[in-house]
Amino acid sequence: MNDINSREDVILLVNSFYKKVRKDTLIGPVFENRIKDDWEPHLQKMYGFWENILFGNNAYNGRPFPPHATLGIDVPHFERWITLFHETLDELFEGARADEAKKRAVLIGRVFLGKLEMMGRAGS
Ligand code: HEM
Repeated sequence: MNDINSREDVILLVNSFYKKVRKDTLIGPVFENRIKDDWEPHLQKMYGFWENILFGNNAYNGRPFPPHATLGIDVPHFERWITLFHETLDELFEGARADEAKKRAVLIGRVFLGKLEMMGRAGS
């Protein structure tokens, strides 16, 4: 098995991950409700997001957290997201970038959850 070595690999990773996400009964509906029928802009952002993380090429320069603030998601959603993401990586890739992607997803998930927790305390 190869590592993630190109944008084509990132596209395969992201497409395969969202195939799983869309079938998942816990987090699939969260995406379907928000994204409706037009997945293309979301997928394009996600290709850039992971390319930037793995290759540092500025393919994404947005603010990843804000859209998550209004989805009503909590720890179980993040756990499922991470499980499916790691599963996808293990099925397709092996190497330093694959490991890096797993670690970064966990770290970002923690940051997002921390922010959601602070907002909950401040807002309710
Ligand atoms: C650590 C885990 C996660 C990472 C790294 C991540 C990353 C991202 C990024 C980069 C975007 C695009 C933001 C933008 O520029 O517009 C995004 C959007 C989105 N994420 Fe996540 N996310 C994570 C967890 C989750 C979870 C747990 C859910 C729901 C179960 C979720 C649902 C969504 C949805 C629905 C959008 C689209 C929002 C919109 O366009 O309105 N994400 N995510």
